Amino acid sequence: DAHVVVAVDGPSGSGKSSTARGVARTLGLRYLDTGAQFRAMTLWMLDHDVDVADPAAVAACVAEPRIESGTDPDDPTIDLDDADVGQAVRSDDVTAAVSAVASVPEVRQRLLDLQREYIGAGGIVVEGRDIGSVVAPEAGVKVYLTADPAARAARRRAEAGEGSTTASEQDLLRRDHIDSSRVTAPLTRPDGSVHIDTTGFTLAEVVAQVVTLVKDDD
Ligand code: C5P
Repeated sequence: DAHVVVAVDGPSGSGKSSTARGVARTLGLRYLDTGAQFRAMTLWMLDHDVDVADPAAVAACVAEPRIESGTDPDDPTIDLDDADVGQAVRSDDVTAAVSAVASVPEVRQRLLDLQREYIGAGGIVVEGRDIGSVVAPEAGVKVYLTADPAARAARRRAEAGEGSTTASEQDLLRRDHIDSSRVTAPLTRPDGSVHIDTTGFTLAEVVAQVVTLVKDDD
């Protein structure tokens, strides 16, 4: 089905990005990284000296950043006010602040509208925390990925470098807690999703499992 929507949710380091990109590549679908959009929003707030601990201050300027996602799974990009911020959104400062920004309902509403524009008529793999539950509850395939905290922290360190201050198990669990306990669109296992614990599997194995689910959905 050329109009399929594949929702990939789960906590940080569960293998969402690599899995979602691999599935999109294998099936010739577009790919949307919604976490990168929340990160771009957060970067804008930090660059403009907005107090990210003050939800009212964050809410007051949600309309200002121009955020654009590139949906090619071979080259996913994120632009903020026409600048490529693919590297900048991965900084420890952004990672440390993003869960607070993402818990502000006005932020979620603005990005929800944007995400639905990108999803359009479908043909896309979308990764995040609330895709199967809120953004695309009608998605044909929903997967919920998890992994042991130690495996998740190891993946983050491989991405962010040994010196990263946000790759410890403790910091991952701190962000999980904020993401899972917020009132608006918390991280949760969506109804109708298939749970895959990626801990003991290779990336190729997890991609193959999800590709099979998409093919079976036809
Ligand atoms: O996936 P990634 O780690 O880049 O996401 C960064 C943060 O963005 C998450 O910890 C979460 O706070 C927020 N997020 C969200 N909803 C999504 C995607 C990401 O709240 N759909």
